[in-house]
Amino acid sequence: MLRCDIITIFPEFFREAFDYGIIRKARAAGLVETKAHDLRGWTNDKHHIVDDRPFGGGEGMVLKAEPIFAAVQELTGCPTRESYPLETRVILLSPQGRVFTQEVAQDIAKHASQVVLICGRYEGVDERVSEGLATDEISIGDYVLSGGEPAALVVIDALVRLLPGALGNESSATFESFSQALLDHPHYTRPTEVAGLGVPEVLLTGNHAEIARWRRDAALRKTQRNRPDLLK
Ligand code: ADE
Repeated sequence: MLRCDIITIFPEFFREAFDYGIIRKARAAGLVETKAHDLRGWTNDKHHIVDDRPFGGGEGMVLKAEPIFAAVQELTGCPTRESYPLETRVILLSPQGRVFTQEVAQDIAKHASQVVLICGRYEGVDERVSEGLATDEISIGDYVLSGGEPAALVVIDALVRLLPGALGNESSATFESFSQALLDHPHYTRPTEVAGLGVPEVLLTGNHAEIARWRRDAALRKTQRNRPDLLK
């Protein structure tokens, strides 16, 4: 069982997010538990303030460290980062993180029993969350989102489908893109003609050796065109 706790100022964002497809099935099967927590619940002041002006001046607001420390302490049951068990990953989502890849997903899915995801907001998060609380700082790509919430969804989706038993067909997770360093080959289904576009003849022949060869070549061509960096 993988427990996913999300710390966010927009818990409603996640209300239906885990009610579809493989994540829904994995939850029903008891493989994963997901819970979005309102960061404001860990504030002590009347107005539940979670942000403040940056030291040194400048634009925008910074998410305060203290409520996040309190939230992570309560959700992990650990008073400091040094006391997390190895199976606990506390992930700060930010554009300054290391880039999330299938390899990172596999590493986390293999070892973790609890993942706490901290969603950043505004102009940033007090750096002490990264320094003293998070085990990982992760970015889902080189672009800036308005908050870490969509990134938390992306990370959880990628993790859940790697949990043993989450996919109906156990082989799917290993055969797809990136697990073999090539993009996936193209897929077609009925009808044989759409908008004047046909289906490669070989796929209709039933010749499995030829089909396998075509798929390998097509995956290579697709990778060459869309992701030449993967071939280097
Ligand atoms: N928050 C803002 N941009 C992000 C990104 N690219 N990845 C993760 N969290 C983010």
